[in-house]
Amino acid sequence: MIRNAPVAPGPVLIVEDSPVQAEMLRRIVEGAGYEVLLAGDGAAALALARLRRPVAVVSDVNMPVMDGYELCRRLHAEAGLADVPVILLTSLADTGDVIRGLNAGADCYVTKPFDEALLLASLRSQIEAPQAVPGDGGHGPMQLRIGDDVHPVTPRDARQLVGLLVSTYESAVYQNRLLRNMQDRLLAANRELEDSNRTLEAAYAELRETQSRLVQAAKMASLGELVAGVAHEINNPLAFVLNHHATVSRALVQVEEEARPHLTPERARLLDKAGERLADMAGGLERIRDLVVKLRTFSRLDAGEIRTIDVEEAIESVLTLLQHRLRDRIRVTRRFGAQCSLDCYPGPFNQVVMNLLANAVDAIDAAARDGEITITTMQDQAMMRIEIADNGKGMPDAVRERIFEPFFTTKAVGEGTGLGLSISFGIVRQHGGTLEAFSEEGVGTRMVVRLPLRQTVPTAATNTGAQT
Ligand SMILES: Nc1ncnc2c1ncn2[C@@H]1O[C@H](COP(=O)(O)OP(=O)(O)OP(=O)(O)O)[C@@H](O)[C@H]1O
Ligand SMILES: [Mg+2]
Repeated sequence: MIRNAPVAPGPVLIVEDSPVQAEMLRRIVEGAGYEVLLAGDGAAALALARLRRPVAVVSDVNMPVMDGYELCRRLHAEAGLADVPVILLTSLADTGDVIRGLNAGADCYVTKPFDEALLLASLRSQIEAPQAVPGDGGHGPMQLRIGDDVHPVTPRDARQLVGLLVSTYESAVYQNRLLRNMQDRLLAANRELEDSNRTLEAAYAELRETQSRLVQAAKMASLGELVAGVAHEINNPLAFVLNHHATVSRALVQVEEEARPHLTPERARLLDKAGERLADMAGGLERIRDLVVKLRTFSRLDAGEIRTIDVEEAIESVLTLLQHRLRDRIRVTRRFGAQCSLDCYPGPFNQVVMNLLANAVDAIDAAARDGEITITTMQDQAMMRIEIADNGKGMPDAVRERIFEPFFTTKAVGEGTGLGLSISFGIVRQHGGTLEAFSEEGVGTRMVVRLPLRQTVPTAATNTGAQT
């Protein structure tokens, strides 16, 4: 189809050594209604032009045999071809191109990759413009300063000089637009990249959180199993010993009634001592039974069900497990508020208390004799507030800011995994609560847990007493 068919009394000569580019140019120029002659290099173009005078030449610059500048020069040196306008296709990599174009007598520059509309507009204006401006007889040699360099140039006439410079400017504007478009696309791609990066970071953080939860869950599950196993093993012989203790106590009372009047004072003292020891043993056995109850309470890691627990009892069971680490070097003060029933997943809740208390114990210097941990529970509207405060070494801000990160620990290898607080944080959040840390280096730390007293999920069972 012929678009906008111009009246052109002759062909447009396209000079291009790349067959692909040549074909593309041919289609564009023919599409605009011009007749096209094709040449693969400067020498062939010159020969064709001599045979048939073109209305314009569109020529590549870099070509074997004869480049675009040389072709331009030779063309304009020929009688009858001197006023054929030449459009050079160039990358315009440096200002020297403009000087070379001027001296070669080129009329117009179009940069590659070229804009079809710009190429055709240049072609049209070159073909249709009058070839000589009346009164413009040429300028002769002149000096053109570009930057620090002065270049001698000999423009053919004012039209060539202005035409070439304006076309260079137009090409630069076009390239600039291309660059701006590219920059916009790059910015958009960059934004997309940043978005994907953020998604990736979030996925990675979630992965680490899940991993840490799994590690801690596995740790707690095996501890729970171990504790449950030990409790069970102790429970059987304990029941047996408690029964026999009762039997022995009763027997002793009966024997004592009958035998006491006949005993020597020394034997009577021995009998008294046996009675006292039996009473002491009862106390010890009670404590063992208590311990077994607490061990079993602790080992109920049944995270699947929300239950109503007795918070004091849960804290006591954890303290019992930590007793060997508290000994007489750390005093534990309990300030339990009135409300003590709480809806929660009992196992994970124990885990939080355990992690906080273990950290408090760790923070108190092993050599300190005046260690103090204060456990406060209170009701704060619909929330239960549990504070665990210690007078240990405290934390600098740089540490406090990172304590909830999985695997962050200041403890030696093998002493801390850095999971305790990140897991606790996750558990508290799962309950719809908050966990906060307040600390002063050298003074101590206060960890504050806030949990909703009631969970909206219907509780599966009520368990306020310790099951054994
Ligand atoms: N009560 C506290 N006093 C001082 N520092 C604390 C206290 N609680 C936590 N920290 C700091 O926070 C860090 C992270 O605690 P977290 O319980 O997460 O891990 P950990 O105790 O190092 O290891 P573990 O996985 O065995 O609990 C600790 O290494 C410690 O530096
Ligand atoms: Mg810890």
